[in-house]
Amino acid sequence: MDTLLVRNLTSTKEEDASTLLAFDELESRSLSLSVRATALVFEDPVSRRLLEQIERIAPSDATVLIIGETGTGKELVARHVHALSKRSNNIFGAINCAALSENLIESELFGHEKGSFTGAFTSKDGWFETANKGSLFLDEVGDLPLGMQAKLLRVLQEREVVKVGSRQPVPVDVRIIAATNVNLEEAVAASHFRADLYYRFNVATIQLSPLRERPGDILPLARHFLKIYGTRLGYGEIKLSPATELTLLNYDWPGNIRELENAVHRALLVCPGNRLRPEDFKLSGVRALEHGPLVSTTSLESALQRLCEQAPPKLFEIIEEAVIRTAFDFCEENQVQTARLLDISRNVLRHKLGLYGMLPHAQKKQSDAYSDAEIRREGLAQQPQKVYTD
Ligand SMILES: Nc1ncnc2c1ncn2[C@@H]1O[C@H](COP(=O)(O)OP(=O)(O)O)[C@@H](O)[C@H]1O
Ligand SMILES: [Mg+2]
Repeated sequence: MDTLLVRNLTSTKEEDASTLLAFDELESRSLSLSVRATALVFEDPVSRRLLEQIERIAPSDATVLIIGETGTGKELVARHVHALSKRSNNIFGAINCAALSENLIESELFGHEKGSFTGAFTSKDGWFETANKGSLFLDEVGDLPLGMQAKLLRVLQEREVVKVGSRQPVPVDVRIIAATNVNLEEAVAASHFRADLYYRFNVATIQLSPLRERPGDILPLARHFLKIYGTRLGYGEIKLSPATELTLLNYDWPGNIRELENAVHRALLVCPGNRLRPEDFKLSGVRALEHGPLVSTTSLESALQRLCEQAPPKLFEIIEEAVIRTAFDFCEENQVQTARLLDISRNVLRHKLGLYGMLPHAQKKQSDAYSDAEIRREGLAQQPQKVYTD
């Protein structure tokens, strides 16, 4: 678990690769020089809109509340907010509120004076003072004990901290970026979270969608991690096979981007060749397509729209040929698999393959034996909804 880390965002590209791997090993409270990846992948339209929102919010000094399931990139987004703010040259402190023991939390956040409790041999600054003029990321803020919530609220209101064992307030200038994977409104309703602190946090809200709701990010992220971990492991160029791409797209990713990152890393370690296969990924219960394709069809539709604007002759045939050719290539020219993938009968497929010159010569003659009328009849009998009638 990432407990208390301060990491500098001004990393070099080489550092990025190593720190992704180093991250889980960093356990202790230290001013670590390690840096996590600063490269961001935002390809899906949902993510692009989110990026615009982050860019709008970041330059202000407003408190930010980031909401999202575990592994959706809350910390990465918090770093990005900091990097785009005028505080970017100062410290970004990251605190996992869930990882702090209740009796240490006050001294961790606000510091303590020498002798203020058993074991306090020296005085120490807390995170608010350490991150002065910078940003403080309070991760899993919903886990803060109620007593601490009251103290934190006071600090946010007064903009000063009082160390444990001291009476002297010290002014602090820190931007708070809080994150939660629990619904804070429900926590407020259940009296686990103070309503007044919630309103303080809830000035600018960034909602991170789960990965399954932004499928356009899945493959770009997979390739991104492939590159990082592949380089790190000293491998040459490694690709995803088309079947693997489909597998990744059709999986739910309950652990979101973190799960995808780990899955790619693991697959690289077990993959024997230079193409990652579906069986290299140990995905628990890959879902079958139930309600139509999950892949966003937005780009497909905009390509079709451009074609319509150009209005070339035989437009339908151009599109149909592209569909047949893509599926046939994808299935490595296996007719049974192609027919299954397209959900059309093999006879219809063979006819189309013949029509578009994709049948090997020997098979072409046989396919010519099917007339258009026969194909329609057969298609209508088997899959009425799939057959084009004109
Ligand atoms: N948009 C993104 N582009 C690239 N990597 C990302 C992105 N979002 C998250 N990651 C990576 O996914 C992992 C999990 O992200 P993290 O910010 O720790 O999630 P959370 O804090 O929500 O649990 C990290 O290794 C992070 O670098
Ligand atoms: Mg996190």
